[in-house]
Amino acid sequence: MLAVESEVKLVGHIGSIWKDDLTSLGAMWVEPAYRRAGVGRRLLDAILAWADEAHPTSAVRLGVFPTQEAAMRLYRERGFVATGKVFPLEHAPSVLWQEMLRRSARSSPEDPPVGQPDRGET
Ligand SMILES: CC(C)(COP(=O)(O)OP(=O)(O)OC[C@H]1O[C@@H](n2cnc3c(N)ncnc32)[C@H](O)[C@@H]1OP(=O)(O)O)[C@@H](O)C(=O)NCCC(=O)NCCS
Repeated sequence: MLAVESEVKLVGHIGSIWKDDLTSLGAMWVEPAYRRAGVGRRLLDAILAWADEAHPTSAVRLGVFPTQEAAMRLYRERGFVATGKVFPLEHAPSVLWQEMLRRSARSSPEDPPVGQPDRGET
């Protein structure tokens, strides 16, 4: 888990676990008053740098809700693509989240794509 504090206030966090040769990200959040100031990008870049160094052959996976457009935009910017797979939320199965993946740091451009073209890309 990485976190950023400002004047002893926690203003953002992101978490990661590594299992079965896959790095999974979650719990990315920035306090509303501190958004659009680069905190989310710093958190994501820091944890991706750690993942690339610690597990360079592992792809990075995360889940996002379709309404989280700001997050999706940031993830796409950092190389994540939607795989086309959606999953029900455990405690509210009518709510679906979608999977996004980023290639491992050691992948090559000739490797098969990890996802599908993202129609929402801007
Ligand atoms: C997603 C979130 C973490 C982004 O944090 P942030 O500190 O505001 O992000 P940054 O300032 O680093 O912005 C990075 C990029 O994200 C995208 N972005 C951030 N906020 C956005 C918004 N309101 N609308 C559109 N794009 C946005 C932009 O591409 C932005 O780059 P730019 O400022 O150069 O245009 C924050 O909005 C948040 O906590 N949202 C609620 C929780 C959430 O959705 N978590 C993700 C779970 S998967």
